[in-house]
Amino acid sequence: MSGAGGHAFPSDLDRQIDRAVDLLRAGELVAFPTETVYGLGADAANDDALQRLYEVKGRPSTHPVIVHVASIDQLDDVAVNVSDAARALAHACWPGPLTIVVARRPGAVSTLATGGLETVGVRVPAHPVALEFLRRFGGGVAAPSANRFGRVSPTQAAHVWADLGTDVAMVLDGGPSRVGVESTIVDCTQGQPSVLRAGGVTAADITRVVGVGLGAPSSTRAPGTLAAHYAPHARVELVTAGELGTRVAEHRASGQIVGVLALAEVVDRASLPDDVVVLARPRDADAYAHDLYDALRNADAHGVEYVLAVAPLTDGIGAAVADRLRRASHQ
Ligand code: TXA
Ligand code: MG
Repeated sequence: MSGAGGHAFPSDLDRQIDRAVDLLRAGELVAFPTETVYGLGADAANDDALQRLYEVKGRPSTHPVIVHVASIDQLDDVAVNVSDAARALAHACWPGPLTIVVARRPGAVSTLATGGLETVGVRVPAHPVALEFLRRFGGGVAAPSANRFGRVSPTQAAHVWADLGTDVAMVLDGGPSRVGVESTIVDCTQGQPSVLRAGGVTAADITRVVGVGLGAPSSTRAPGTLAAHYAPHARVELVTAGELGTRVAEHRASGQIVGVLALAEVVDRASLPDDVVVLARPRDADAYAHDLYDALRNADAHGVEYVLAVAPLTDGIGAAVADRLRRASHQ
């Protein structure tokens, strides 16, 4: 057993973290766990590794990647002119599911990681394995979610293997992701911070820290905000709790294999026929976030053709869940 920050790792995991660091230093891609989703990591200072990252991900090279660091002390290594609001948010939420977009420090990370922008997205993830991996590596790790572009994000090591196979040198297994949806992205480059992507940290949390309301979403590019994203192969249709029973009946009548994704109270009230695949029936919005991507993947695994999804209320983390469901439904 060894490890920093009072965290002891079983010796096998400890060796795996060392191996992951060695591979990253050699310019390889390493998938690693975070509390939100698994990331596909590359040395943020290595152009060749970044090039390969974009190839494997299948993502346009103009889409920036989040740079992950082990500690808030590294923020100024990659950024300049960090505003008080950005610093306050980082202090309040890190380690955690928050990415702040700040002005990039010239030369600190590959311009491939920042997609040619003058800004950089930075995050300290709240996962003991990720933190130890980042600490031992020492520098920034550029990492998008470890799925192919446009597809469902991975919340387990097995999801990464299924998607990327041997295109990734190693998957560091840290168990299922606790939060289950990506980080909240806050643009801190222009005056009032504004949310570019809803995520694990709620709008109310952010407002509480910065003391005032959030600015209007800026025109800053955040391609995770593309309309069609997070999509399984099955069609996803968003319905209200009241519509669920009728829509299930209509799709079944046309011979479709139907899957349902809704809060337990909604599923129970709908009294669904036995041949409907209940993909998940989470008890609340936190559980919904946690189960969401695994449920969408299971739809494909069960041969479901139509997923009927009822979003939770859009307060708290429900906003991120509703956002991902909306994007999954745009195919
Ligand atoms: O929770 C997460 O954020 C996960 C884990 C692995 O940390 N990562 C993640 O990465 O979701 P990705 O690449 O799938 O989504 C990152 C989003 C993209 O929409 C990207 O455009 C945006 O962050 N982004 C990154 N840097 C940015 C920047 N400088 N300005 C605006 N948006 C940025
Ligand atoms: Mg992603």
